[in-house]
Amino acid sequence: MRDIVLVSFGQCKPTCMADRASLVSKPFPHGVVNDAASVTEVVHRAMSRTADPRLREIMASLVNHLHAFVREVRPTPEEFERGLDFLLRVGQASGPEKNEMVLLSDLLGVSTLVVMLEKERSGGIGTDPALLGPFWRDRSPVCAHGDDIARDGGGGEPLAVAGRVVDPLGKPIAGATVDVWQASPVGLYENQDPEQPDHNLRGRFETDADGRFHLRTVRPKGYPVPTDGPCGELLRAQDRYPYRPAHLHFMLSREGYQTLVTQVFDNTDAAIESDVVFGVTPPLSGEYRRGTDGTLRLDYEFVMQPGTRRIPRAPIP
Ligand code: BEZ
Ligand code: FE
Repeated sequence: MRDIVLVSFGQCKPTCMADRASLVSKPFPHGVVNDAASVTEVVHRAMSRTADPRLREIMASLVNHLHAFVREVRPTPEEFERGLDFLLRVGQASGPEKNEMVLLSDLLGVSTLVVMLEKERSGGIGTDPALLGPFWRDRSPVCAHGDDIARDGGGGEPLAVAGRVVDPLGKPIAGATVDVWQASPVGLYENQDPEQPDHNLRGRFETDADGRFHLRTVRPKGYPVPTDGPCGELLRAQDRYPYRPAHLHFMLSREGYQTLVTQVFDNTDAAIESDVVFGVTPPLSGEYRRGTDGTLRLDYEFVMQPGTRRIPRAPIP
């Protein structure tokens, strides 16, 4: 039997032949398949030399669940072909403009499950997290307190946002970065909409000594997730309402604290109980109240927990 080459050497010059030898895996007699029942065990043996213990654990569990799924569903060859084609198209629909892979994870509730489990792992305290979503951009404009992040003068109802960031004992967290982003009054993010100026409805604020920040913006509007790709086909096949209730996104970060990625929803939105990506929790259903002067405002207290600051990779640049 020939050795298996694990990487493609298409670009390689003869000088890297020695490297090539070190990347070739030796034959490993993991055995052969006798019947459907024996496949899983053989695959486990084939993966049993994985050096990284976490990768070994993850892949073993993936194979167990995937094989159990196939045993339960028993796809026909046509269904299998269709399933693989769907995944292929999810990949093909992703690129610098759009991340259909993130969208699929969101629509299946996986993104929400991951952030909720992460909250549990770190003690279950603090503000509920919510999925990052596909539209966050890093390096959004640095703003001063009270700045307006609506950069287009494009209408919409003015909204004043006042936040306070505290630790689990209620002590203010000064110097935290608060990254805010939202959809426009027509329900589009600026990186989906050529009509909006760069970085419209995005900004980064820093909390003051009392943990406070405030900004001006316009009332966000609920919107449908992108439905022009394979994920849209799935939603239609499942007769699912593609909307998210209106919300503001927040990413709060500071050295010594676990980065908090969350969203605060408008609890008067008709879709508050039908979020297509399952981001709403009761504490995240915010009250966008009208003040005595008639201005709409959102006040919210965020609780960050001690931990490690980690900034995610932007789903699209
Ligand atoms: C968002 O809130 O930006 C979002 C989340 C999931 C899918 C599409 C959009
Ligand atoms: Fe959003």
